[in-house]
Amino acid sequence: MIGNLLFLALFVGLTFLFGWLTWRAIRASKLWVKIAGSIGAGLLTALCAALAFLGGKGLAAMYLPGANPAPDITVAGTADQIARGEYLVNLSCIGCHSAVGADGRPTEAHPLSGGWNLSASEGFGFIGDMVTENLTPGGKLAGYSDGEIFRALRHGVNQDGQLLAMMSLLTYNQLSNEDTEAIVAYLRTLDATATDGATGDNINYLGDVMFGAGMFGQPTGPAAPDTITAPPQGVTAEYGKYVATFGECRGCHGPDVTGTEASATGPAIPNPRLLVATVSQEQFFTMMRSGVKPDGVAFPETMPWQSAAKMTDDDLAALYAYLTAPVQ
Ligand code: HEC
Ligand code: HEC
Repeated sequence: MIGNLLFLALFVGLTFLFGWLTWRAIRASKLWVKIAGSIGAGLLTALCAALAFLGGKGLAAMYLPGANPAPDITVAGTADQIARGEYLVNLSCIGCHSAVGADGRPTEAHPLSGGWNLSASEGFGFIGDMVTENLTPGGKLAGYSDGEIFRALRHGVNQDGQLLAMMSLLTYNQLSNEDTEAIVAYLRTLDATATDGATGDNINYLGDVMFGAGMFGQPTGPAAPDTITAPPQGVTAEYGKYVATFGECRGCHGPDVTGTEASATGPAIPNPRLLVATVSQEQFFTMMRSGVKPDGVAFPETMPWQSAAKMTDDDLAALYAYLTAPVQ
């Protein structure tokens, strides 16, 4: 943070320095100094101004997001809530928040003590660190109110209202209030496990510049609403879209699950509807539960079919209905 502010000050300073040199060059008496000097110094002025502007914009977005106050809620923690929360957390959050194995990747097993450096591991470590948090009561969430955990999921901000770089990009801001509260209820029941190493964000100035330029595909539009209700549970395309939300399919394959273009955080991701349209529901179940496509080709590690494999029959059937219905 302090380092990033120094970089911002540096680029603002360089903008003025090169701006002044440009002005001097324009007024120079020698023609070649006038032309070469003003073009060279002018380009450097523009470059430094862009780096200062975008970095400042990214820094402001990360540290001054103007988050709403956390809702004043106390989650009851009923058996139904805990069971629902367990289902959601174990098919979604566990993929990133489980403890790290010997290969440096999440083990996809409990405890949810975090510590995975996602940016380094996924090839965008040049923007700094994004390390998953300990979600057990052995970590910082023990000091969060129910409302503050709710707000982290709905608005992607930490206890101080500052942006959570990765969480703010995920689709949990579209989970219903009921499901968000169920997740909070379940997290509170986990055994406390100590945090191993540093967690959270440590984004550098280049990351701020890229964030300021909107290169992470971060949501723009209005903030998520305070109240969200899920469509009625059932084997319908409408509920299937909701399954694609908590199942994270929309996070990678795009809001309509029609594929995404390459961005700073990763390569292009294909439109799964094209393949799903050619398979029966039974084949779809087999594919999502075995990780092998009907043509015998296994999904690569970049396609986390394991989360879909943990879904109930009804949720997978709803997902199939959604992926084979007209795009909505
Ligand atoms: C794609 C990986 C990924 C998934 C999936 C994910 N998280 Fe996170 N989470 C992160 C990272 C990385 C951080 C560190 C801060 C950041 O960059 O957002 C984080 C931070 C958090 C925090 C810390 C908030 C704070 O104030 O510091 C909470 C709470 C959290 N996640 C909850 C969840 C829950 C609950 C789920 C499932 C519903 C989930 N996360 C799924 C990557 C993920
Ligand atoms: C972390 C990102 C990510 C998530 C989450 C994700 N996918 Fe994928 N998916 C991929 C990538 C990357 C590929 C392409 C893999 C390859 O190169 O073959 C893919 C491929 C697929 C394919 C095969 C497409 C084809 O034509 O071969 C299907 C089907 C699919 N995903 C469905 C889903 C469903 C359903 C979900 C939600 C349960 C989901 N994906 C969640 C990244 C993701």
